Amino acid sequence: MENALPVLFVFTPFMILALMIIFSGKAPAAPASASSAPSIYQQLGGEAAVNAAVDIFYRKVLKDDRIKHFFDNTDMVKQAAKQKAFLTMAFGGPHKYTGADMRRGHAHLVARGLNDSHFDAVMEHLGATLTELNVPGHLIAKCAAIAESTRKDVLGK
Ligand code: HEM
Repeated sequence: MENALPVLFVFTPFMILALMIIFSGKAPAAPASASSAPSIYQQLGGEAAVNAAVDIFYRKVLKDDRIKHFFDNTDMVKQAAKQKAFLTMAFGGPHKYTGADMRRGHAHLVARGLNDSHFDAVMEHLGATLTELNVPGHLIAKCAAIAESTRKDVLGK
């Protein structure tokens, strides 16, 4: 019995610590990926799908007489890379976009007459592109809503 005292001295602090941790009320956070729904980026099919979509999208844009003139002086290789990074971020994928914000990035085009009718044409091509890639309708609607949310900034309103 006389040996019990030193043992208690050694273990009591650990027991107090353990009880403090147990009763601190802070359950460990579940990893984000385990509990949250997949992002639109993931639902689309990730990097390969966004890359394919942007390539098809710009092929359509550059054939469209209503809007192709805006891209006359644009390096389309760089532009496609920026658009891929931007849409990846906007659709909830990795944040690697380092380009201009939508207002600054299009201000010089607004000065050249960019307006709602041109924005509508771009929305049309985005929808047609995703349809062509067999993206389900409910997902196309979500992508369109995200693209639509940039309208005011793109048009400098
Ligand atoms: C859904 C709406 C749109 C999105 C998400 C978008 C996205 C982008 C991004 C990420 C850039 C790169 C910005 C930078 O230079 O760092 C850009 C530039 C550009 N966008 Fe858009 N854009 C949209 C609408 C439009 C529309 C409606 C037009 C014209 C019809 C347009 C024409 C251009 C052009 C020509 C550039 C390149 C400008 C340059 O070469 O300096 N965009 N856009």
